[in-house]
Amino acid sequence: MISSNEIRTSFFQFFKEKGHTIVESAPVVPHDDPTLLFTNAGMNQFKDIFLGTGTRDYVRAADTQKCVRVSGKHNDLEEVGVDTYHHTYFEMLGNWSFGDYFKEEAITWAWEFLTERCHIDPSIMYATVFEGDAANNVEPDNEAANIWTSRTGIPRERVLFCSGKDNFWEMGDTGPCGPCTEIHVDRGPAACDMQGTPGHECRVNGDCARFIEIWNLVFIQYNRLPDGRLEPLPSRHVDTGMGFERLCALMNKKLSNYDTDLFTPLFDTLCGLSGHTYGSLLEKDIAFRVIGDHARTLCVAISDGVNPGNMGRGYVLRRILRRAVRFGRQVLGLRDPFMHQLAPVIATIYSEIFPEISGRLAHMEQVLMAEENAFARTIDNGIRLFEDLVAGLKEHAQLPGDSAFDLYSTYGFPKDLIELMARERKITLDQSGWNKAEAEHEKASAGKKRTFAAFDIEELDGLSPTEFCGYADANGMYRLTHRTRALRLFNDATMLVLESTPF
Ligand code: SER
Repeated sequence: MISSNEIRTSFFQFFKEKGHTIVESAPVVPHDDPTLLFTNAGMNQFKDIFLGTGTRDYVRAADTQKCVRVSGKHNDLEEVGVDTYHHTYFEMLGNWSFGDYFKEEAITWAWEFLTERCHIDPSIMYATVFEGDAANNVEPDNEAANIWTSRTGIPRERVLFCSGKDNFWEMGDTGPCGPCTEIHVDRGPAACDMQGTPGHECRVNGDCARFIEIWNLVFIQYNRLPDGRLEPLPSRHVDTGMGFERLCALMNKKLSNYDTDLFTPLFDTLCGLSGHTYGSLLEKDIAFRVIGDHARTLCVAISDGVNPGNMGRGYVLRRILRRAVRFGRQVLGLRDPFMHQLAPVIATIYSEIFPEISGRLAHMEQVLMAEENAFARTIDNGIRLFEDLVAGLKEHAQLPGDSAFDLYSTYGFPKDLIELMARERKITLDQSGWNKAEAEHEKASAGKKRTFAAFDIEELDGLSPTEFCGYADANGMYRLTHRTRALRLFNDATMLVLESTPF
């Protein structure tokens, strides 16, 4: 087994030799970019250079970027766990030219790295290039195609011209973009996960697991404006992104990213906790993969400063935590909170490259435990009620909107989970029935008198401030329970002020 750490190091070494500065991954929270919820590509942290509004003291860089793809334009959530090569969190290895080298070096170095350092068999590799777009006045990328055929070992018939869907890369609705050339590998007929599906054909950019993309070389030349037009940028740049987990699998001759050292320690822990083994039953394997994938995303995002919550990024995290917990409870039979037990494993896997994860381990464990406990209270009940509701419904049937809404409004079972579980059973939620029940519910509750707790500010006179005693005690152990005193009661004893609190 070639370790993931060795593979990362050899990537950095190669590009150092080619004059690149190795830079650190940006956090997964793009603090200064309102167009993004999470960092979804290596180029995000260099967006200002591409747009001509920022500079660095280097023109060539290489890095590994922590990426989260669970929302917005690039969202892989639905595939995660079902297949073995999409993730909500993954690492993207990248090399960058800021107005320096362009297509020739980008292509020949990618080829050299893959064939000479990674020893990938050249005969399994394909390249795709952009076929052009007359409406936007972008020419077919014959230049890239010619470099592939004249400067690498890829024969003409394995260079394919493809449409903008796959070969014109954009970060989001607006921003830097350009044509790209992708490297795909053919992992052989046994890798196809759609064998026996009528009409299925294995091909590059197809829908099975036989051919997968491993590296995307983008030639950034335009800025997509809010009105949809492409504006040429002052300089031309290179932005490459290689799927690190996929590369690790490929180099170790594994068909699944989950069979690499980036995941196996997590699965060992899950086996120990659940008593189930990975690799025995598809349904259980999917649960292992979902939990492993989501635990990584949660730890990376929490250590970069996001907490699960009701809005925006926090809500995305809450949803994926709930998804993982549900798989753990329903499929692996895990009764106690388990996500926080995966956090130390993740911290160890990344101790060399992302020390910020182990640096915030106690915090991560505390956040995960609190969130999972809160969710556990509603989930068991909700799953049972959902099962009663769908019992007897056939594929493609509709889940009655009023009963589903009742599950949400009376039992607190989250709507997105109802939708997700319905989708998994190939049934749909009757949205108009839901809307009607929701409107009636709102009308009924509008008439009800709400009571608010109230007290006079003077009632606080003489109290000292509550002492905060979270998140960890003197031994570094997180604290979820704590014995303290109520200093004063208000509002018929429905509110109190505590002497100290871990919350
Ligand atoms: N920006 C491109 C991608 O995310 C290449 O880095 O695929």
